[in-house]
Amino acid sequence: MFRSNTCGELRLADAGRKVTLAGWVQRVRKMGGMTFVDLRDRYGITQVVFNVEHDGALTDAANHLGREFVIQVTGTVAERTSKNPQLPTGDIEIIADELNVLNPSEVPPFTIEDESDGGDDIRMRYRYLDLRRTPVRRNLELRHKMTMEVRRYLDSKGFLEIETPMLVGSTPEGARDFVVPSRMNPGQFYALPQSPQTLKQLLMVSGMDRYFQIVKCFRDEDLRADRQPEFTQIDCEMSFIEQNDVIELFEGMAKHLFKTIRGIELTEPFQRMPWADAMKYYGSDKPDLRFDMKFVELMDVLKGHGFSVFDNAAYIGGICAKGAAHYTRKQLDALTEFVKRPQIGAKGMVYARVEADGNVKSSVDKFYSQEVLQELKKAMNAEPGDLILILSGDDAMRTRKQLCELRLEMGRQLGLRDKNKFACLWVVDFPMFEWSDEEQRLMAMHHPFTHPKDEDIPMLDTDPAAVRADAYDMVINGVEVGGGSIRIHDSELQAKMFEILGFTPEKAQEQFGFLMNAFKYGAPPHGGLAYGLDRWVSLFAGLDSIRDCIAFPKNNSGRDVMLDAPAELDQKQLDELNLEINLPEAKA
Ligand code: AMO
Repeated sequence: MFRSNTCGELRLADAGRKVTLAGWVQRVRKMGGMTFVDLRDRYGITQVVFNVEHDGALTDAANHLGREFVIQVTGTVAERTSKNPQLPTGDIEIIADELNVLNPSEVPPFTIEDESDGGDDIRMRYRYLDLRRTPVRRNLELRHKMTMEVRRYLDSKGFLEIETPMLVGSTPEGARDFVVPSRMNPGQFYALPQSPQTLKQLLMVSGMDRYFQIVKCFRDEDLRADRQPEFTQIDCEMSFIEQNDVIELFEGMAKHLFKTIRGIELTEPFQRMPWADAMKYYGSDKPDLRFDMKFVELMDVLKGHGFSVFDNAAYIGGICAKGAAHYTRKQLDALTEFVKRPQIGAKGMVYARVEADGNVKSSVDKFYSQEVLQELKKAMNAEPGDLILILSGDDAMRTRKQLCELRLEMGRQLGLRDKNKFACLWVVDFPMFEWSDEEQRLMAMHHPFTHPKDEDIPMLDTDPAAVRADAYDMVINGVEVGGGSIRIHDSELQAKMFEILGFTPEKAQEQFGFLMNAFKYGAPPHGGLAYGLDRWVSLFAGLDSIRDCIAFPKNNSGRDVMLDAPAELDQKQLDELNLEINLPEAKA
């Protein structure tokens, strides 16, 4: 027997037992004739004691142990004199009789403890060591538990887990593809799937009825805290359903996860908010509803009083920060600088404080009488002690997005974005299309297979930009944790959609012929959704970045610094693939 117990298992009730443990040396401390070794494995830490009086040679061997040595220890469980209430095993220690060094270790590049002294880069390079740390390991344990619960839930609802290929064809729309050259088909490329979207629709044509897959997806897009080039979806599709059926089933799954993973019972149905309202009141299609601070449009109140910035604006909007009138000039200047940062791009910010006597003092007092400022107070529903912050601009959508950033920042500064509080909602009725300046054409907002709302179908010919879709996103705490839609199952409507998206019939046939042909053979009405597993885990673990719940993540430049990938290919491989590298001078 290699070990009788793990390092997280033994308690006072085990005192007197002879045990064998194995693990890594976290720390060695010498105190007089005693040597204490903290022995760690996945399950915890147990203190092992070597005593010169008990066995001099053994204690000498223990004194030569270094951090991260892998050892096996046999000894007797004893009650500790000075207990450690921080550790589940803190009431006991092992009085060692035998020590077996299974493998020595070089000095690790950073300390492998809950609080590490290693910077991000070094910990990523030695990710296998970072994963020995409890906080990182816990995230993977949580991830495992979540996937188990997802499978349990979906299995109970009759879903089949079906794998789809990783080497597929490149599809336009959406993000850029990662492509893979084919040696057997010279000059041709596979693409890694951005999602199994079309394949899961084909599975519905096949009659699979309810499909799911916990699946890697690949997107060559700019990275952020909640985006990785490869990430995992809980991808689902169902036949013979309507939007409400999908929403209810996956809201049920969200509630199941909250209950089993976080012990939180959510009984109320999640709020459903039309996309247009989300944009109007929060300037975002993924509003953080942990706090209120809804936008109020102020065009009627503030235009036409001689303040040219507002007089010329296409949109003026304000938020009311409750109880924030104490903000100093310095804090307000910092907020102004915040909204003026190039990533946000506002030109300036106007503020107004509601004083204890109800009077309003603003940064633009010379243009506004107290009477108008009182109207502002009323419009904003502000009370003494509140702070009103106002942005304006010549493009309503852009200004709302800036106000959204300001709202989130104020929420953060006022401590309203508590990681242990969860605000879940569905954003529904997304527009079918959005205009792309880059492409100078309408693009599908979700994807080209999304069904338009029945009542909006006539507008496809007259005003496609106004058409809404049967598409829905689940948003928790301002994070889009999932999204889906009802799909088009009619090849004529699908062809029309491609036409609006600017595909010639030939191009549509070339790219999506496989799907349109399949729809000719009895496609059932269907729809589905995909949850972002990494985002769910990081939300439940309270992480700032999804990187921390991925065993081997990429850094912000999309690199795996541990594997040193991506990397150049050697000439032989390039020749086999008929590839030639042709870098512009500057990059070569
Ligand atoms: P969508 O593109 O909205 O839909 O993706 C679904 C969910 O996947 C997560 N996600 C990501 N997570 C981490 N890194 C990324 N780069 C990333 N991109 C997306 C998000 C998102 O809500 N086929 C459709 C789903 C459907 O219609 O059924 C799809 O892929 O949480």
